[in-house]
Amino acid sequence: MSLLAIVGGSGFTGIPALSVLEARHVETPYGETSAPVTRGQFGASEVLFLPRHGPSHQLPPHRINYRANLWALRACGAERVIALAAVGGITARFAPTALAIPDQIIDYTHGREHTIYDGATGVVEHIDVTAPYCEDLRLAAMAACDRTGHAVIRQGTYGATQGPRLETAAEIGRYERDGCDMVGMTGMPEASLARELGLCYASFAFVVNWAAGKSDGIIAMRDIEINIARCVEQLVEVLISLAADQ
Ligand code: HPA
Repeated sequence: MSLLAIVGGSGFTGIPALSVLEARHVETPYGETSAPVTRGQFGASEVLFLPRHGPSHQLPPHRINYRANLWALRACGAERVIALAAVGGITARFAPTALAIPDQIIDYTHGREHTIYDGATGVVEHIDVTAPYCEDLRLAAMAACDRTGHAVIRQGTYGATQGPRLETAAEIGRYERDGCDMVGMTGMPEASLARELGLCYASFAFVVNWAAGKSDGIIAMRDIEINIARCVEQLVEVLISLAADQ
């Protein structure tokens, strides 16, 4: 049995059905985490939970202390981290409310604290990220979708953008030519930091809008909210099943 940590994104400042046992403030070498690390009972299992945008969704993607968050989860005993990520859909299958388990990332972010090997420790390592997600956890996530009867897209390339603004239509055109299927703002440096810290990390991406230029008109925040609520419902069932399988 290994302890699963869930990192919550938009729509997940908490998790319905998680009954909190403890909320722990963790000191880290990198400063403050987004929130205390919650340990809770989730179905038949215990899990850790951390909302990356903070308890009241107050942290924009470029201000999240990804290093502190992942370090704290590891310090609390997590070996596996499943990250929840709202995304915009670019290619045809990635329609609003679709659930996906990405297998690749392109990083378009800048200016974020993106490594633990920043010279401060006197050690530099160049980690391999050929496959940026942990295949074991990706497979477990797919199996949880199958057990609960939720359709899931089993691979796709996640484009990580800086935010907090959404993209222009021309930017999305470029990301599509690059090979991105979906676009979100938090997938990096979270995934590569998890690898640096030796954590097995994978992500459930849930599509909450068509990316810019992929539907008529502008992107309506109200529609995003409605789609987030729909996705939260299906994800909670899948996550309970995933947690029971660790
Ligand atoms: N772009 C970037 N991040 C997002 C989007 C988007 O369209 N939707 C949800 N997160």
